[in-house]
Amino acid sequence: MKRGLFITLEGPDGSGKSTQIEFLKVYCQERALPCIFTREPGGTAIGEKLRNIILDKENQEMCDMTEALLYAAARAQHVQQLIRPALDSGRIVICDRFIDSSIAYQGYGRNLGDVVRVINELAVDGCMPDVTFLMELSPEIGKSRIREDSQDRLEQEKLEFHDKVYAGYKEIAKFYPDRFVEIDAGKDKETIRDIMFSHLDRILEG
Ligand code: TYD
Repeated sequence: MKRGLFITLEGPDGSGKSTQIEFLKVYCQERALPCIFTREPGGTAIGEKLRNIILDKENQEMCDMTEALLYAAARAQHVQQLIRPALDSGRIVICDRFIDSSIAYQGYGRNLGDVVRVINELAVDGCMPDVTFLMELSPEIGKSRIREDSQDRLEQEKLEFHDKVYAGYKEIAKFYPDRFVEIDAGKDKETIRDIMFSHLDRILEG
């Protein structure tokens, strides 16, 4: 059977991914496209439990490698249990964050470097996105959009960390120009929506 289409959304915290995912749901509904929407960390019962551990503000003592391995573990489960079966049955999978989040946040943000790519290659087992929409917004603006009392363990990190994550994203996009669609997330939400929709139109027509 023809493999489906794997689309991921990436970007700094507060870059507006959730709003765009709602637009993508409408896009798929209106065209009656077979699709699933999912997110990371999470997407499976095990992944959601791991998400709670990773993002829990109480877990301040978590070391960087533990964090990287937990994200990768949740991702391995997600790929095996949900993403690959959906793609194999010809569905479109739209995922809020995936491997590039780990490379940006743990690889660049936590300075773990290339080891993050290595453990994640094991986790994704060749299941890579076809298209990645990267919402580009400076962390200063992104962070200011999130209420302080609702920030999770990662969002609470200092601006310096988020600056490294953002620089990391830009580097990754340079490595994979064919997969990445870089979008200025400072634009209004309808403009961003239209950019994504026209890319999808082109891919689906192809
Ligand atoms: P997200 O679900 O996008 O945050 P929100 O709760 O605001 O919707 O992501 C949770 C946090 O986890 C976010 O700060 C990014 C971080 N993260 C990583 O550090 N590495 C990863 O591999 C993933 C998937 C997320």
